[in-house]
Amino acid sequence: MRPFGYIDGYLAVGSVRLADIAAEVGTPVYVYSADAIEAAYREFEAVLAPARICYAVKANGNLAVLRLLAGLGAGADVVSEGEFRRALAAGIAPDKIVFSGVGKTNAEMEAALQSGICQINCESAPEIHNLSRIAARLGLTASVAIRINPDVDAGTLDRISTGRKTDKFGVAWTEAAALFHEAARLPGLTMEAIAVHIGSQLGDLEPYRRAFRRIAELTGILQADGITIRRLDLGGGFGIRYRDETPLALADYAKVVEEEVGSLGCEIVVEPGRRLVGPAGVLLARVVAVKETPVRRFVIVDAGMNDLVRPMMYDAWHDILPLDVPPVGVEYRLADVVGPVCESTDKFAEERLLPPLNSGDLVAFCEAGAYGAVMASTYNGRPLVPEVLTQGGRFDLVRARPAFTESLALERMPDWLAGSGGDV
Ligand code: LLP
Repeated sequence: MRPFGYIDGYLAVGSVRLADIAAEVGTPVYVYSADAIEAAYREFEAVLAPARICYAVKANGNLAVLRLLAGLGAGADVVSEGEFRRALAAGIAPDKIVFSGVGKTNAEMEAALQSGICQINCESAPEIHNLSRIAARLGLTASVAIRINPDVDAGTLDRISTGRKTDKFGVAWTEAAALFHEAARLPGLTMEAIAVHIGSQLGDLEPYRRAFRRIAELTGILQADGITIRRLDLGGGFGIRYRDETPLALADYAKVVEEEVGSLGCEIVVEPGRRLVGPAGVLLARVVAVKETPVRRFVIVDAGMNDLVRPMMYDAWHDILPLDVPPVGVEYRLADVVGPVCESTDKFAEERLLPPLNSGDLVAFCEAGAYGAVMASTYNGRPLVPEVLTQGGRFDLVRARPAFTESLALERMPDWLAGSGGDV
């Protein structure tokens, strides 16, 4: 699955040497392979057609990535007005976009409705009532899914599980039928879909099966009551290999979908994020210094937890590869790979067995295409990390590193402080 590999001793993607990108753009920098994203998309398409593939923009919202996926026929799953506008700007038609999220504001729902969004996934009774009021006021009809909470443990990391009854997401599956009935009487809504998403980085099909079974049961109850369910939005969650996980076989997933909900005659929507873009990206960083202490060896790189937060936030593992292939027989040693941010949690790897690394060397953090750049921040006054997209033998900067003046430009000096120095 990994599109990055050594060619003639240098880490490359397609025929592009990653070191050439680092030399031109500087580090840290995210690099994504358009070819890998396309291949991953094609796999979904081949296995799940005629299901709609609504890419979860939260995984990687870069406009060029979105444009690439739009060109392949993808729709989008968005969770904010910002993501919605991004998807539109990239050329994804509103009628291919679903709006998820547990806390949509009135303004967000209004913007989505006015643009003719395909579906809004509601997660509570108050949200449905709000949406009804807004749609009625605008003289529009919202196509609505209720996202159910199936009370299924996805068997993934606690912090990325969403389908247990203690999680904040969705409407308890036991209460969903009553809410459908209540909503069916409200103006401005067409209640025609059920949505579910139980978590991310799933490696097992059984939780999916249990969740889909609940959906099938609910669909049956609603159809018997005269509410027609036309669409089932089965969410995302498709795991990838970061270390030694076995990614789900999509064909097996498709079989589970067919077995559990295939006979209901509904249109199927899936919302993959990580699987489409995760393996397609790396974060490149340069070693600033190697510090030996009496008890540890620290490899200090110029990327920090503000650029890639997953290790510190989820204890996530990302393989770390040197850009130059290590010579045969070289001694690997344990090291902590850390960033420059003034937090002890700014650590990418602890006691990791690595080939010799010296200041100036380049490394790649693998499987960083999903939930990487999108989760970056400017903590410690660090500019947002730039992004590069490769295709075949070429590469292009698709988001520039902001100049320091750009972040300063948004700030304002109150009158009472102005004139006392500086030039903001
Ligand atoms: N649909 C909904 C409603 C979601 O909440 C998510 C992810 C997806 C689809 C896409 O899931 P995927 O196919 O990417 O697993 N920041 C975490 C992951 C958070 C996922 C949140 N929701 C991480 O870095 O692992």
